[in-house]
Amino acid sequence: MVSHQIISPLLLTICAFFVVATACSNGTCKLDDKCSTDADCEAGLYCFSCTVSFSGNRCVRSTRTNPFKLVNNSLPFNKYAFLTTHNAFAIEGEPSHTGIPRITPTNQEDSVTQQLNNGVRGLMLDTYDFDGDIWLCHSFGGNCHDYTAFEPAIDTLKEIEAFLSANPSEIVTLILEDYVETPKGLTKVFTDAGLIKYWFPVSKMPKGGQNWPLVSDMVANNQRLIVFTSKKSKEESEGIAYQWNYMVENQYGDGGMEKGSCPNRAESSKMDDTSKSLVLVNYFRSVPLKPLACVQNSGELLDMLTTCHNAAANRWANFIAVDYYKRSEGGGAFLATDTLNGQLLCHCGDVHSCSTGSTTPGACSSRS
Ligand SMILES: *[C@@H]1O[C@H](CO)[C@@H](O)[C@H](O)[C@H]1NC(C)=O
Ligand SMILES: *[C@@H]1O[C@H](CO)[C@@H](O)[C@H](O)[C@H]1NC(C)=O
Repeated sequence: MVSHQIISPLLLTICAFFVVATACSNGTCKLDDKCSTDADCEAGLYCFSCTVSFSGNRCVRSTRTNPFKLVNNSLPFNKYAFLTTHNAFAIEGEPSHTGIPRITPTNQEDSVTQQLNNGVRGLMLDTYDFDGDIWLCHSFGGNCHDYTAFEPAIDTLKEIEAFLSANPSEIVTLILEDYVETPKGLTKVFTDAGLIKYWFPVSKMPKGGQNWPLVSDMVANNQRLIVFTSKKSKEESEGIAYQWNYMVENQYGDGGMEKGSCPNRAESSKMDDTSKSLVLVNYFRSVPLKPLACVQNSGELLDMLTTCHNAAANRWANFIAVDYYKRSEGGGAFLATDTLNGQLLCHCGDVHSCSTGSTTPGACSSRS
């Protein structure tokens, strides 16, 4: 009895110390720590539950690392990787702008402004003629309907204009699945949104697999908006780059999620065609399933980046396109982007390991 009375308070003290030492709150919780609200987590993290992977809530990443700031922006554009949102406009909770309830899946949860502020730098947008204007629509058969329309394109393009205006060192790439037939329809809406002043001209895009211009030059020239269309004729008629003249891309949807294989999508040349300087990796399901996105955006995505690197003549992806970009088991698509930037910029497994000035392979500093 005597020893029990002595040991119990001691144990209690040790236990209490342990609880205090591991508990966190009010912005002190680190990656993977348990949390109850977003405010518990350190900057760059939010409190998230990936129920198919872990129980309870943990702090996971919500923002990317900026390679232009962490390393520098003096390399060609094709030496950096950019987090890209698939169907960036198909946002949960977007109110109906047609008066008709929408019947079509969503792929994202944040507004385009939030996506950009969190570090998304590639946006996949589906453009259609609709209602006498250009709309973003999640549709089929090349036609937009009342019940598949998200919003007039001008609204989203104005958000992009506001971001580029407020962030003069940033570059945004738009990848359009383009169903617009109206002559100069896209040119008009980009003009109306005030985006022409940022336009990166087709004439400066390398056609034979050469390096792109330096990011620092693109910034200095204020040519910070890159737009690709899926319609070949528009390169000639409107000066909008035909995507697959400059980029190889793997299969989208379920066909791009088969472990160990990275086939090109039909419109793209083979992944190992080095006459295209940019590499795009899609990694999202044909039919989005939100509860699974956190697992897909984590280890599976990292595996696919290696698979696609091997398929693409040992080239790391410049764009990785995902659904629900903030959902992950911890690092998610942000960590994947850091991995790519580490490989592209300094042959290291993470951009944080690119010690300033070092380009020697193997000279990676350990991540602090
Ligand atoms: C939470 O952290 C902020 C910033 O460090 C501090 O100003 C504030 O007093 C803290 N609040 C509480 C309740 O601890
Ligand atoms: C920018 O970073 C890269 C990669 O670390 C390096 O090779 C290059 O020398 C750096 N450029 C400048 C101007 O610091």
